[in-house]
Amino acid sequence: MEEKRNGLRVILFPLPLQGCINPMLQLANILHSRGFSITVIHTRFNAPKASSHPLFTFLQISDGLSETQTKDGPSPNVMSLLAQINVNAESPFRDCLRELLLESKESERVSCLIDDCGWLFTQTVAESLNLPRLVLCTFKATFFNAYPSLPLIRTKGYLPVSDSEAEDSVPEFPPLQKRDLSKVFGEFGEKLDPFLHAVVETTMSSSGLIFMSCEELEKDSLTIANEIFKVPIFAIGPFHSYFSASSSSLFTQDETCIPWLGNQKDKSVIYVSLGSVVNITETEFLEIACGLSNSKQPFLWVVRPGSVLGAKWTEPLSEGLVRSLEEKGKIVKWAPQQEVLAHRAIGGFLTHNGWNSTLESICEGVPMICLPGGWDQMLNSRFVSDIWKIGIHLEGRIDKKEIEKAVRMLMEENEGEKIRERMKVLKDEVEKSVKHGGSSFQSIETLANHILLL
Ligand code: UDX
Repeated sequence: MEEKRNGLRVILFPLPLQGCINPMLQLANILHSRGFSITVIHTRFNAPKASSHPLFTFLQISDGLSETQTKDGPSPNVMSLLAQINVNAESPFRDCLRELLLESKESERVSCLIDDCGWLFTQTVAESLNLPRLVLCTFKATFFNAYPSLPLIRTKGYLPVSDSEAEDSVPEFPPLQKRDLSKVFGEFGEKLDPFLHAVVETTMSSSGLIFMSCEELEKDSLTIANEIFKVPIFAIGPFHSYFSASSSSLFTQDETCIPWLGNQKDKSVIYVSLGSVVNITETEFLEIACGLSNSKQPFLWVVRPGSVLGAKWTEPLSEGLVRSLEEKGKIVKWAPQQEVLAHRAIGGFLTHNGWNSTLESICEGVPMICLPGGWDQMLNSRFVSDIWKIGIHLEGRIDKKEIEKAVRMLMEENEGEKIRERMKVLKDEVEKSVKHGGSSFQSIETLANHILLL
């Protein structure tokens, strides 16, 4: 049944990456269920499938990217892409928003714009059109809070890190360890500084900051976010607890995963996925393959086409290795992840710790083996292994022996049982938060009222 409309329209503008489109469209559903009408402005690149969301209006703008720039498919070189569309999309976005405001009727006023913290021009455009803007952050608040201090941390001289200091905590950024820093900054170094500065400035000028998180996961960080950005903060919970991400999938999900899982024993399967952006080398790919094969544990492995550098899909696997993998496991190009994690057969998740994947795993009570690729994933994985103690961190390079050991520890040994128990406690707390009366649930009400009053 259609919810009662409140006469207000919210404009959403996701960053065109899977890990950002999912939360934005889930937020669209959350706001729609509170009576708001929804218009989604999106780029041509990685355009969401409008037909999967018949209740929303979709408007495409030009992103100025050429076919060659997007030839890698939906998971391109993220930073270079972000830099380009942040220049190319400004003018088309301004024209589109202006048009929408001109058309806006008294019976259905446009109340605000909500867009991703990674857009750099939207605050200026919204201000010039007198439209309030709210920011959606798709990272853990603890990570976003570090944006103002990351340039300083980079110049502190922690890198290159010596062996004796590798495990030391970064004083300005716990529980991150000094050895994590090179992967946080990647190859970008000081080139990141203007980007970070712009994100902080535009967020501070906004009318509010929305996190897909909750007090049960990071109460202190949410308070600190309020102090740093000096705008109202809304931590409305893991969005997929309210609406599944599967309708916003940019890739075709292999539905044969579910009947295959149906033939496996309870909590016996390790699910392996490194999300939509992380790429690995052929050597790393083969190490994962051997580690899984040697563990003798059933597995479901998502190998995203193009994610193994230099290969189309799984061709680097020898025939012998394929045979041995097929005895116990299944390899797919893309999975219905939320459904997979919720399946009774799943006992562990070998993950890159993107924030969406980490939250989805917590909500389904699936303990993790952490193999972070970079950026915020380094921090998420430290929280999983060192703070919440609901997973095992694979340190250093990707190694078959380490993978085999971690899989066995998680699935068969006493330590795995303890991790599972702690995971159950955290899952229950987060579950309470999104239920009627919970902190996230109440935060949705506060957000809806905030938008009504803008
Ligand atoms: C990126 C960043 O890497 C991440 O750190 C940041 O927090 C958000 O943007 P991504 O790497 O794609 O995201 O990871 P993640 O945040 O985990 O998002 C992936 C999404 O794709 C999840 O919602 C997951 O359910 C979905 N997915 C993944 C599938 O539906 N099927 C798959 O096979 C794999």
